[in-house]
Amino acid sequence: MKALKIGIDKIGFFTPHLYVDMNDLALARGVEPAKFTIGIGQEKMSVAPITQDAVTLAANAALEIITEEDREKIDYVIFATESGVDNSKAAAIYVHRLLGLKPNVRSIEVKEACFGATAGIQMAKGHIALNPESKVLVLGSDISRYGINTSGEVTQGAGAVAILISANPRIMTIEEPSVFHTEDIMDFWRPVYSDVAFVDGKFSNEKYISFFNHVWEDFKAKTNMTLADFTAICFHMPYTKMGLKALKSVLDQGTEEDQNRLLANYEISKTYNKVVGNIYTGSLYLSLLSLLETNTHIEAGARIGLYSYGSGAVGEFFTGILQPGYREVLQPEKHQQLLDNRQKLTIAEYEDVFEKKLPVDGSSLQLAVDEDPADICLAGIDQHMRQYINKKM
Ligand code: CAA
Repeated sequence: MKALKIGIDKIGFFTPHLYVDMNDLALARGVEPAKFTIGIGQEKMSVAPITQDAVTLAANAALEIITEEDREKIDYVIFATESGVDNSKAAAIYVHRLLGLKPNVRSIEVKEACFGATAGIQMAKGHIALNPESKVLVLGSDISRYGINTSGEVTQGAGAVAILISANPRIMTIEEPSVFHTEDIMDFWRPVYSDVAFVDGKFSNEKYISFFNHVWEDFKAKTNMTLADFTAICFHMPYTKMGLKALKSVLDQGTEEDQNRLLANYEISKTYNKVVGNIYTGSLYLSLLSLLETNTHIEAGARIGLYSYGSGAVGEFFTGILQPGYREVLQPEKHQQLLDNRQKLTIAEYEDVFEKKLPVDGSSLQLAVDEDPADICLAGIDQHMRQYINKKM
């Protein structure tokens, strides 16, 4: 019997309409701009207005890919986030309503820092193996917040990816095996009482690379593959220099041709990330989207490696094969427009947006959703209940 092909059928992406330029941020913080733009490798970062949270970002990302046929077939929504809005209710349930999905759907939230969406994809794969006719919507949505004037500030961002997993996918099949690694470490974390992350920056960098080395060695031992088997490797991208450091740690295992190919494709894979910033759970998949939507030479049949890392920490390496006609399912013009149409904030305006918070004492607040061009917005809060609207419904 032929094995069922399972993988990524569609990818949606959304980022809010506001951004900060890294040159402006560097000047305001008294830092040489090249440190941010070259040393860290970030040009811009998206900033979420108070009318966008993890739920709305994900719902907006999903809205651009979901058709009526998908609505019929989706029976599982897996929402990965580390910017959850509720400790009990799954963010997937709000998205389920905002997208108008049918009631017979399983809706859950998963968490393991930036790794959550990868866990979601692997869970989705298992579900499709048992239910080949169904489709699973996996969401990776986050707002990266370290705080004003912290060393992590330059690695903030906001956005979401929406990934439809199905049998006979049109973008990329996901291969077996996948390899993973867990260690209990404190490199980056966010206690439930804090709305900004805590981080041991240098340690997190070291662990990101050492986890990559663990899973890469394990993968090679299991498959006998080498760098020559990969057209490109996509990385979780907290900032664009990070994946490059990990890639460089194994490049001497390849020929000069392997090195040139992987480095050139790495450059392409950071196209969106360098102007969006860290979107935590979605970052690896935003990098994959950058590679697929902005390359002009990668053909169907190419094998792509994916390295997922979630602080705390869990790492996973897995692979996919691009499918014939994959470009037809992508929306590069739409995404370029989304990025180009953003409005630049001064640093004072960004600090103002950063400090805006919803009341936590049960009082009501109505938000100015007309100022946010997104279709799906947070319209306010009433008696501790967030009020979401889809302007198109
Ligand atoms: N021109 C060019 N480059 C310059 C420069 C200049 N004028 N000045 C400094 N640089 C370079 C430095 O040489 C350095 O490059 P290398 O790393 O290649 O040596 C780079 O700029 C950064 O400089 P520092 O290490 O001094 O920067 P920093 O101490 O201010 O902090 C950081 C950098 C640790 C990444 C910090 O921004 C941070 O803590 N970020 C959040 C944590 C993070 O993203 N960790 C990544 C792994 S964890 C993960 O992946 C999960 C997740 O999403 C959070």
